[in-house]
Amino acid sequence: MTLDALPTTFELNNGVRIPTVGLGTWQAPLNVTREAVAFALQQGYRLLDCAYIYLNEREVGEGIRLSGVPREDIFVTSKVWNLHQDDVGAGLGRTLDNLGLDYVDLYLVHWPIRFFPDPTAANPLRPLNPDGTYKVDRSWDQARTWAGMEAVYAAGKARAIGVCNWSIPYLEELAKSWKVVPAVNQVENHPFLPQHALKAYCDDRGILLEAYSPLGGPGAPVLQDDDIVAVAKRNGVSAACVLISYQVNRGIVPLPKSVSHERLVQNLQVVRLPPGDMALLDGLAARGKAQRLNKPPFCWDLGFDDWD
Ligand SMILES: NC(=O)c1ccc[n+]([C@@H]2O[C@H](COP(=O)([O-])OP(=O)(O)OC[C@H]3O[C@@H](n4cnc5c(N)ncnc54)[C@H](OP(=O)(O)O)[C@@H]3O)[C@@H](O)[C@H]2O)c1
Repeated sequence: MTLDALPTTFELNNGVRIPTVGLGTWQAPLNVTREAVAFALQQGYRLLDCAYIYLNEREVGEGIRLSGVPREDIFVTSKVWNLHQDDVGAGLGRTLDNLGLDYVDLYLVHWPIRFFPDPTAANPLRPLNPDGTYKVDRSWDQARTWAGMEAVYAAGKARAIGVCNWSIPYLEELAKSWKVVPAVNQVENHPFLPQHALKAYCDDRGILLEAYSPLGGPGAPVLQDDDIVAVAKRNGVSAACVLISYQVNRGIVPLPKSVSHERLVQNLQVVRLPPGDMALLDGLAARGKAQRLNKPPFCWDLGFDDWD
């Protein structure tokens, strides 16, 4: 069965529709991003996953214009960087300026962590203490960041707002003060980290999950796994197709990143996987393959249960 049999959009909790597969842009090199984004849009991608800290939003914006695809047909996501949590509006303003757009479709809090600004730091976007650890503001209340997110939403600068890297305990805390329920929670997700409990929690509250690093992150390590390769062979598709389809089949939006024409096209193939294969993929982590692959050096417990 092909894409026709699966939805091509999901509905967010505010009625906005989001494409079921997106294009990741983290680590897309500056010299190829513009062309890769334009090619991807021309091939049919309609969701771009960006972030201020990827430092390539200018090139993504140029790619949008080069593609010839109308702005309103594209769902653009970006994220407020840890340094800008005290002024979300200004953070979004920088992103809109870089992208050359006047709104985003989805704006996310990149991490539930705020950095202290230090203009004298070697890299002011990633301020470090003398011992090399990040200057994390441990007293910062994420409710303040979320209030800033609600303000840009109310101002129409973002059609929907959400979070990234929020575990159940963090969501429970935020729920005490949110007026707007996050539309999305973007987290690492693949068969080694399926996050079943978080998925159920978010389903109950109308929060859509997005899967970052759906292939396992840079180098796509999950593609090599024997069980994934076996599912791919059984279904006559690529291992990448299995990992991307796995997410769409369970109602999660995968965000595979590529800058290669061949892989960009390959990653658009989504198939309905048989229930037996979905059960196998759902159970790989519990059968000993659980693994978190994206480990930010923030020295901060994000509250995830990686063995679920
Ligand atoms: N919110 C967050 O904190 C957060 C964290 C991480 C990622 N993200 C988002 O999620 C996106 C995806 O995650 P990711 O970039 O970590 O990893 P990913 O999409 O799981 O994997 C990307 C890697 O796989 C390769 N690749 C792509 N398609 C392939 C295929 N069909 N066959 C073989 N290799 C393939 C890519 O290389 P080529 O480019 O050379 O094809 C790249 O090395 C990011 O780009 C970013 O937008 C968000």
